[in-house]
Parts: sequence; structure tokens; C-alpha cells
Amino acid sequence: MTIEWRPDERQFHLSNGLISLILRVYEDGSLGQLHLGGALPSGRPYRHLGPDPFAGYANLVGGHVPFVYPTPGIGDFRVPALVAEGADGATALTLRYRDHRITAGKPSLEPLPSTYVEDESEAETLEVTLDDELTGLVVDLRFTIFDGRPLIARSATIRATGAHPIDLRTAMSVVIDLPDTDWVMVGLAGAWAREAHVVERALVPGRQSMASTHGASGAQHNPFLALRRPATDEANGEAYAFSLVYSGNFLAEAEVDQFGATRLRLGIEPDTFSWHLGPGDAFVTPEAIVVYSAAGLQGLSDALHGLFRDRLARGTWRDRPRPILINSWEAAYFDFDADRLVEIATSARELGMELFVLDDGWFGHRDDDTSSLGDWVVDRRKLPDGLDGVARRVTALGMGFGLWIEPEMVSPDSDLFRAHPDWAVGIPGRARTETRQQLVLDMGRPEVVDHLTDVLTDVLASAPISYVKWDMNRTITEPYSLGLTPEAQGEFFHRHILGVYELYRRLTRRFPDILFESCASGGGRFDPGMLAFAPQAWTSDDTDAIERLRIQWGTSLAYPLSSMGAHVSAVPNHQTGRITPLATRAAVAFFGVLGYELDPTVLSAGERAEIGAQVAFYARHRDVFQRGRFIRLESPFGGERDHVSWMSLSPDGATAIVGVYQILNRPTPEARRLRLRALEASAVYQVSGWPVSDDPMIAANTGLRTGAELMAAGLLLDRDRHYAETLGDFWARLFVLERVETPRG
Ligand code: DGJ
Repeated sequence: MTIEWRPDERQFHLSNGLISLILRVYEDGSLGQLHLGGALPSGRPYRHLGPDPFAGYANLVGGHVPFVYPTPGIGDFRVPALVAEGADGATALTLRYRDHRITAGKPSLEPLPSTYVEDESEAETLEVTLDDELTGLVVDLRFTIFDGRPLIARSATIRATGAHPIDLRTAMSVVIDLPDTDWVMVGLAGAWAREAHVVERALVPGRQSMASTHGASGAQHNPFLALRRPATDEANGEAYAFSLVYSGNFLAEAEVDQFGATRLRLGIEPDTFSWHLGPGDAFVTPEAIVVYSAAGLQGLSDALHGLFRDRLARGTWRDRPRPILINSWEAAYFDFDADRLVEIATSARELGMELFVLDDGWFGHRDDDTSSLGDWVVDRRKLPDGLDGVARRVTALGMGFGLWIEPEMVSPDSDLFRAHPDWAVGIPGRARTETRQQLVLDMGRPEVVDHLTDVLTDVLASAPISYVKWDMNRTITEPYSLGLTPEAQGEFFHRHILGVYELYRRLTRRFPDILFESCASGGGRFDPGMLAFAPQAWTSDDTDAIERLRIQWGTSLAYPLSSMGAHVSAVPNHQTGRITPLATRAAVAFFGVLGYELDPTVLSAGERAEIGAQVAFYARHRDVFQRGRFIRLESPFGGERDHVSWMSLSPDGATAIVGVYQILNRPTPEARRLRLRALEASAVYQVSGWPVSDDPMIAANTGLRTGAELMAAGLLLDRDRHYAETLGDFWARLFVLERVETPRG
């Protein structure tokens, strides 16, 4: 890993053998990008890759100039990185190189979340300072390259150093220019209970984007975008990923210009943003991660998974095996008392579950979703001995005790709202939209964050709590803060999310041993910003196994298994009404952080035996399921798909588990083999199956197989007509591959 500065060519080259980023200070002082992609040899000039000699954009009509941080007013009509309004009302900026620094390690962006290093030798950071002489606006652009990771972390600090204030209208985290347009844009889109569906479209001239203006990153689009070559698939070909470490409104946009080039930008959504910089003030953008892969989408996912799991997540639970939980929500909803909870916990404990999570309904007088958010005081009608009483009864069973909270919200029917109606977000004189009968607290106001810190600290200290599910169940419809002047209302959304981060920071630091799981009506805020505080997230409220195939596949494009909460629930499924076999529900939920979200006290003896075996199986292979390398094999997206498959390879490579899922069963099935990936060709694996060993498909594959065979010939998934008749819809099989002989030499 090196960052090279060649003063004669005024060229920077960041490289680690996996990726190269080459920048050049043009003749007029503007900063251009010569290359971002596959690693190039260092120690060489690459000046010829850019326009040469460069004499300003306007003199290059017909040519394409890749700028690192483009602004209006320089003749570049594509989407800008930075729009700032000076005292004269103009937005033109001519940013020129002033100086730069190369340092070991990576600086923190606090109060924003960001990736980090544990040792300075893990990364190097280039900071280039650009300035605009007329306004005194200064931009510090940061580029961090990590050892052994094919990615660059980017962020910028924008400073007003002149005599006059400056108003930021757009402040992107990164802009990347690529020299052609032969790309397919890959995004994650969806809705509540249908998150993270993979959507693809070939780039066309003009602008195309994924974005959120909901106040959170949202279930509709994820702050992730990839570009792949049309021929790139999971395992082969070129691709880039762009991921924003941010949980608020974002924009990920590609623009194809008239010269046949592509500009990609990623950052805070500009239509819902402005920021006032008085003289001497600074604004820091969220961090963006840019990944390059020559090994298909897998290369992107591998890089993001490793970074997010090991150098974005932090704290006690980053590397720890995560407990198998039972969640009370779909078992009891709001209808419980202490005895009922202990009954559920006892029954779950008998099946091997390790953590009991008390979901919504334990506080105020919350018998449904019409009241009490904000009143974080235990409901003694339901829990006469308080949280501590029920938590101690649960922990006495040998389980952890977890608790649901929704700190950022307030019910109009709550003591908090009656005492502080002005703390709820809303525009004076306008009606406030109530979604789920609740309002959003104004997290940009320090007194709100202080209050929540105090009351939640009391709650979390009041009982032996080892896990918190931090929910957030609505969007922000009328953004306005009484804590801000009318002129500063454009700062509302960013200040709001900074307040959320501050509360997370305080509570995670105060309670380092608590495992935090973020949630926003499921995956409505499943983003890297949240992962910096909560190493796992509730992937979706939709626990239907078939829906989850799509949701978990899509989520896995950017996020590691260790971050994905995945539960087995009852049938008919509470979101879709679908009835799927218990084994299928488990075979999907295994690939992530497993939980159960059903009433174990009403299960039949057969179901209990099955779940007990599932829990034991998962516990035995927890490392594969939670920390393994996730490899997507057959996609649920793209046309008529009735089968899906994926696998996970343990960190030491000794065990792989393959999941094979059939959506609708077919008569007269076609011949089918499933070729695996990423095994050691010369290793020998003992193949066995799950859930039943006497199943013909499992029997056909059981035995010793070389990695070469499993990758070149594959697992045999053929079914004859008579066997197919026995399967029904929605079946699943797992294949466990255990390496018995390692290759020699
Ligand atoms: C939405 C979450 O996603 C659910 O899991 C559950 O916690 C409910 N909120 C509780 O209100």
C-alpha cells in the first residue's frame, strides 16, 4: 500500500495492488482524476491519461475532463460535487490545489460514523486542500487506501475561511468520472417488508439515481449503488460499488454525458439540504466507500463485507458470536404480562435459544400503537416487578434479556408530548402527519438528546439487559425545527441524524456490553451509518421465507451476514399469509443472525423437536452462518425464477454450507446441477445434507467429493418425477461440506 506524490508531474497515485486511484493537479491548479480501477504499477507517470496540456474546461469543448470535486462555473455542465452560494449570490467556484498531506492511518470523522483502523499501518490517507480565492472557500479532500482491501474511503471538509459567510447547497462525499458508459447500474430498492430488491438498468444519457428524502436512508432505496459491465456476473468481470456511511437523506446518481463518459456522485441528498457556514465554520461530509472489483459482484461484496464487519462495526460485539434469540413481537404483540413472557422464555430456552427479547409494549400504557412512545417507564400493570423483575426471571433460565426501544419517537398520547409538544417535529401553523399514530422527536435539539440519554440510561441500567433492539418506525413528513432559525431550516435533516448518532454514541459507550440491533420497521435504515453503532440490523419485518430469499440476497450485495437479523416465524406468515415448511423457514434464516419470532408454547411436540434440532445445527455452524464468506449462486431476481441458491464458507475455509431453495415445485423436473464456487479444488470434502439424511437428493450427494468436482460438476439436484411429487412447494435443502483433506504443498 502506497500513496505516491510525483512533484514533477504533480501526480498522486494511491495503490495497494488491488486498486489504483491516480489524481493529477492540472496546469491551472484544478484537481483531476486520471484513473480509478485496476491496480497500476507505481513509480510511473500517468499524466498522459488525462487531457494534456490542460488549460481549463472551456478550452476543451469536445473533450472530457474528469474532475475530482467539480463545481458550477467552470464550464462543466454535469452534476457537481459542491454548490456553494457566496455573499454575492453566485455559485461559481474555481477550486485550485493549495497543498496536501500524506499520513499513516485514517482520521476519525466524529461526530459522523466512519470506518477506522486499529493500527496506523493498516491504511494511509491523502488529504488534498483546494481553495477558491474569491470566496475563501477551502475544501480538504480525503482519500484513504487500506492494506489488502480493493477500496478507497472518501470524505471532504468544506471550510469558510474568508470574511463572508457561505451557504452550501450541495456537498457530495464523492464524485467519480469513468471514461465510458458501458455500465449497468445496480441498486437496492423496495418498500416496507420488501426491502433490498436488486434493480438493474443499463445507463442511458442523462441522470439516473437512487435517493431518499424520508429522513432516513429508507426502505425504498439503499445508500448503495454498483456499476457493472453488461457481461459482469457474480464471479467474473469488472464492477464498482459506491456505499455511503450515512443514515439520513442521500443521493446516489449516475450521469451519462454527451462525450460518452459517466459521472457518479454520492452524498447527502441536495434538495433537502443546505448548510450555513459563517466565517471560520466547517462542514464535514459523510464518508463514501468506493470499491473496484475485477471478480464480479462477489468482489464488491467481499470487500464491503470485510470492511463493514471488521472496520466499521466496533465494540464488544464486533467479533463475538451473536446469540440465537426469541423475540416476543409476533408471539404476543402488546398482549402479555410477566408470567406470559417468562413462559415464552422458558419454552424457548428448552429449545436451546439463548436470548429473550421483550419487544414493543412494556412501557407507559402501551396496549396498542396509539400511545406512550417517549414515556420510557415500565408498565407495572403488565410487569409489576419492573423490568428488573422480569429480566431476572429470564436470566435465571440461563438466557440473556433484551429490550425494544424506539427513542426517536413520541406519541401524542404521552406524558413527554404533553410536557414538550415543541419537541416533536412539525411546521408551525401546519397539521402534523401522524404515521402509526406517532410523531418524530426533534433530534437536532441538544436538550432532546440529553433527555433521551438520561431516561434511556436509567432504563438500561435498571435491569440485566444484554441486548437492545432500537426501532424507528416512521418517516419525517414536515421537516422543521423550532430550535433552528427560519434561515437554517435547510440544516434540519442533517442535524437530525447527527442527533441520532450522538444518542447512539452515548448509549453504546455507556453500555459497551450491550449488543445493539438497529431496526426501522425492518430494513428501513439498514445502512453503514447504523452499522457503526449497531453491528446487526433487523433486515425486514417480512419473515416469510420466500420473500426473505430476495431480501437477504439483495441485502448481501453490500452487507455481511453478521449484520443481518433473520428470524423463523409462525405460519401462516404474518406478512404474506403464506405457509412454508418449518425447515425452509430455518434454512433461509440460518444465513444471518438467527432468531425465532413465534410463540414456542403453542408448538406441537414435532415442531419443538424440529426447532430444537435447528437451534443445535445453527449453534454448531454459527461461525459459517454469521462470519462466513457469503457466495450468491442462483439469483431470485431476473425473470421467472423458481429456484435460488447460495452458500457460506467458514473463515478458515474448512466448512461450507450450501442453501438450495425451490419456490414453486415443477412437475417433470429438468436435469439440474449446482456448481459451487470458492472451494479449494484439490481439497476433499465430506458432503452431508440437512434436514434429513434419507432424502434422495441428499443421499445422492452424500460422501467424499473434491472441491474440483463440486465446482466443475456440482451438486446433483436432479429429481425424478416420482420424487418431485413428494416435495410440494417451498422446499429447501442444505448441504454441509466439511474439508477432510487439505491440499498438499
Ligand atoms: C417494527 C419492527 O420492525 C417490529 O419488529 C416490531 O419491533 C414493531 N416495530 C414493534 O412496534
